[in-house]
Amino acid sequence: MSYSAVILAAGKGVRMRSELPKVVHKLSGKPIILHVVEAVYQAGVTDITIVVGHERDKVREILADYPVNFAIQEKQLGTGHALMQARTEVNHNNTLLVLAGDIPLLQAETIKGLLQFHTQKKNIATILSTSLENPKGYGRIVRDNDAFLKIVEEKDATVEEKLIGEINSGIYCFQAANAFAALDKIDTENAQGEYYLTDILGILKKEGQKVDVLLTTASSDVFGINDRVQLSQAQAIMYRRKNLALMKNGVTIIDPASTFVDNEVEIASDTVIMPFTIITGKTKIGNNCEIGPYSHINDSLIGHEVVIENSRIRQAEIGNKCLIGPFAYIRPESVLHENVKIGDFVEIKKSDIGADSKIPHLSYVGDAQVGENVNIGAGTITCNYDGYNKHLTILEKGVFIGSNTNLVAPIKLGENAVTGAGSTISSDVPPNALVVERATPKIIEDWATNKKKER
Ligand code: UD1
Ligand code: MG
Repeated sequence: MSYSAVILAAGKGVRMRSELPKVVHKLSGKPIILHVVEAVYQAGVTDITIVVGHERDKVREILADYPVNFAIQEKQLGTGHALMQARTEVNHNNTLLVLAGDIPLLQAETIKGLLQFHTQKKNIATILSTSLENPKGYGRIVRDNDAFLKIVEEKDATVEEKLIGEINSGIYCFQAANAFAALDKIDTENAQGEYYLTDILGILKKEGQKVDVLLTTASSDVFGINDRVQLSQAQAIMYRRKNLALMKNGVTIIDPASTFVDNEVEIASDTVIMPFTIITGKTKIGNNCEIGPYSHINDSLIGHEVVIENSRIRQAEIGNKCLIGPFAYIRPESVLHENVKIGDFVEIKKSDIGADSKIPHLSYVGDAQVGENVNIGAGTITCNYDGYNKHLTILEKGVFIGSNTNLVAPIKLGENAVTGAGSTISSDVPPNALVVERATPKIIEDWATNKKKER
């Protein structure tokens, strides 16, 4: 049996009140539509057509790296009309999965369950439904005794029908030929004046075809996003799922309610995540680390036994046993080798810091190559920018930088060189030398006493 999928994503999503099409809004850093496409892929359906319309270039751009087909719906005349637009993209001998692009919590397992059920039962159409305490807004599954009868939309439902708690998830499986044939029979005689996709299920049923409903308990999987409140609710569920998966894999999360981790993040066992921590993008974290509280890390590689407290790390590589923070800012293209200490109010940008080196307080290190065992005193600044270009600072291994040193780049200090506190160094220093740049202090005896007498 061959499978195709059509994802409906042409709508504007009026209720989002946004310039952007709804499916482009992000959850866990990734557009809604990508969550759906990836779940479909993982379920084994690789022939995917996406119906686009409103702001279609923005949707296409997001999917540029994905091998999907597009069908265009010029005017958004309803979900049924949207599926019609995919008529020529789909092989009519296939089994067809149809779903909306606004259900980012959908998981591959749930799709697989639907496909299997549909195939095993040899159905012509299968609707995935679920029971909700508050079904308001969704289409309802109307049954005659137990058998499926039709789907009725909220806006068309009678008072009685509105009491039905079993809702249409908007995820269906069809024999493609039957679905497209039934689409020719729908009209716009309904409260919204739209071509409802949901009508074809009642039509197929009336024609005596085998239409079945699969009631799933995975209610959060079918959670549809129509406005910003639902966007935040879906996000909360997604973070909760990720935290659970991490904890099951041996990560301690002190307070899941204040821990926000994107789906693709990997964290190894026995690492502890403290409260108020955000870990995003393609970050990987090793074993036995202590991350947070109050830390934000994105797209970074963190080794084992690393401690990061109250700090911001962006696109950086942190070696094993590094100690970072509190209040450190590690910027892109920074590489910290093993056992480096970066202390409070230190900013590191595009620099390579050798093993066992320390930058404990109040420093800016940018465009620098720092060797092993270097100690950089408080208040040190690499003056890397002359207003036009960025220049390199090289500190060879064992260098000792006194407090409040300005290193005017380009500059190189040889192995074990030492700078005196308060120096501005603007030329290279040979290995083992001391360099001091300091005015001789001028001492005027009894200056203060005399000043008082003058008054
Ligand atoms: C739809 C179902 C409803 C179901 C609910 C589940 C219909 C008529 N109703 O309602 O039974 O309970 O989903 O979430 O199908 N779209 C297009 N073109 C259009 C209209 C919509 O591509 O002309 C796309 C939208 O971009 C969206 C999806 O179809 O991704 C669903 O549309 P939406 O307006 O959200 O339908 P609901 O009112 O949620
Ligand atoms: Mg919807």
